[in-house]
Amino acid sequence: MRQGDWLEEVRGLAPASVDLVYADPPFNTGRTQRASGGAFCDRWDSLEAWIAWLRVRLEATLAAMAPAGSILLHVDWRTSHYARVLLDDLLGADGFVNHLIWSYGLGGSSQRRFARKHDDILFYTLDPERYYFEAPLVPARSRRLAGQMKKATDVIEIPALNNMARERVGYPTQKPLALLELLIGACCPPGGFVLDPCCGSGTTLVAGVRLGRRVLGIDTSERAVALARARLASEVGAYDRGRCPRDSSASTSARRSSMSM
Ligand SMILES: C[S@@+](CC[C@H](N)C(=O)[O-])C[C@H]1O[C@@H](n2cnc3c(N)ncnc32)[C@H](O)[C@@H]1O
Repeated sequence: MRQGDWLEEVRGLAPASVDLVYADPPFNTGRTQRASGGAFCDRWDSLEAWIAWLRVRLEATLAAMAPAGSILLHVDWRTSHYARVLLDDLLGADGFVNHLIWSYGLGGSSQRRFARKHDDILFYTLDPERYYFEAPLVPARSRRLAGQMKKATDVIEIPALNNMARERVGYPTQKPLALLELLIGACCPPGGFVLDPCCGSGTTLVAGVRLGRRVLGIDTSERAVALARARLASEVGAYDRGRCPRDSSASTSARRSSMSM
């Protein structure tokens, strides 16, 4: 866990070490994002400035990525079209794997347009022949397959955290653990290394540790880093007390050594 700028911190990583980058950067909303547990600035002078900010950080990150590593870039309607062009430029159009839709449900409606109820997660890889992918299983919707599981599609239906959610720590734009568990399980090999360079409250890190991946989080915000550290510590504590049944075969010491706190 490192407090600092994505650009500076990623330059210190070992070359070819990162199997999966999940990046959930500020979305260029033009606002300061605030919630009870923290705040971060999400204002740029222009869309071009946001893209330039992202480009230089993604470029620097590529040097740390394993040859068959992958990137999940989490954005929304404001920038997904530009982010896709940027990733095509950096990784080649062949590197494109999926444009995932995270359909989160919560929030208001609109009289002026269809209500915006999804984020965009762009999945690219450095090596289209050898990248890791294990299709996640989700409950089937059709009557024919009722009660069975089926391979997930590129539309992921997981509710956003509501105000009463137990996992909520009050950090603005905190993502659900279920979403990160699905993404990491699908896109990072077992025991692989996940980097979240804008880790906020540490959702990616907790999900990665639960799944037996090695994790590293970076964030400029002191509050975010403190929250992420506390969440990780309590996750390890839960394993110590035998309360996390997801992967009972993994020992606590293995969990500890998998984390880059
Ligand atoms: C959308 S939030 C991430 C939320 C996170 N996924 C979660 O579940 O809590 C974006 C984060 O990027 C961080 N950030 C902004 N600029 C950054 C930079 N240059 N380097 C690293 N982190 C940055 C902000 O402090 C904020 O915590």
